[in-house]
Amino acid sequence: MFDYLKEEGVPESLLRAVEEFRRNYAVAEGLQRPRFTYYGEKIWEEAICSLLAGQNLLLSGPKATGKNVLAENLSFLFGRRSWNISFHVNVDASYLIGCDTFDGNRVAFRPGPVYQVAREGGFGILDEINMAKNEAVAVLHATLDHRRIIEVSGYDRIALHPSARFIATMNYGYAGTREINEALGSRFAVLQMPVIEEKQLARLLVKEHPDMSSQMQKQLCAVFYELCAKAESAEISARAVDLRGILDASALMALGLRPLEAMDMCISNKVFDSTERAIIHDSIAARIPRSWK
Ligand SMILES: Nc1ncnc2c1ncn2[C@@H]1O[C@H](COP(=O)(O)OP(=O)(O)O)[C@@H](O)[C@H]1O
Ligand SMILES: [Mg+2]
Repeated sequence: MFDYLKEEGVPESLLRAVEEFRRNYAVAEGLQRPRFTYYGEKIWEEAICSLLAGQNLLLSGPKATGKNVLAENLSFLFGRRSWNISFHVNVDASYLIGCDTFDGNRVAFRPGPVYQVAREGGFGILDEINMAKNEAVAVLHATLDHRRIIEVSGYDRIALHPSARFIATMNYGYAGTREINEALGSRFAVLQMPVIEEKQLARLLVKEHPDMSSQMQKQLCAVFYELCAKAESAEISARAVDLRGILDASALMALGLRPLEAMDMCISNKVFDSTERAIIHDSIAARIPRSWK
């Protein structure tokens, strides 16, 4: 991954600092390179700087802009184990930090993910943090600011290991998204995640589907940015602007499904309003004819 980042133009001084971090905090064993590589050197550079400075990072942006991919890539680069912490309805202090449980013989502390990150000096990925309830947010306050502590109910407070970091993600940019409150937001350095650049998308498609014709690859890129533009001008909602859908459709094409049908399944049909769905279908069909196999 270091070679890749060097080629991308991430400053070598930063990469050397990451190497020093890895030497200082012994790289965790058994880490595997994530399935996807994040493309976008400016975001890489900013994210690395911020983590080196000991900050927590909030990645904010529309869906499928690579927020989770980047968070996993960063954990791997820094040589830390990562814990994915998602904020479903039942997330509270005892889930995040841990609680005493009785196994039939004795009471033992069952550690939660935030506790494990703190102890091991791992990276905690706070997924879709804007969905967190107040109780979960309250737990994070002291953890995420300069105090770097967690309160373990019934036990002592413990300090975060110096290599522990938190990377939060937040889907933002479509109707109905929740914001995070100011106090929580102030505890992070924030990156507004851009939509993937055209040359990077081409690269991603080639890497994922080396057998795809270059004509198909060009048309898929074109469709994606056309849908982005239509959503920006409010002609359609942002629902159909979904890189994940494009990749999923490509996987169906590789299995032999007709390209237009694959795109309908993975893009157009996700929009339930029929007028909007027709606009999306037509703009795909203009580039990917029904006759294509
Ligand atoms: N800049 C990017 N570099 C690499 N992959 C990207 C990028 N943006 C989006 N993707 C791809 O989009 C898909 C969704 O990524 P993910 O990280 O789950 O998105 P998010 O968490 O922002 O919704 C993945 O397959 C990922 O590889
Ligand atoms: Mg995500």
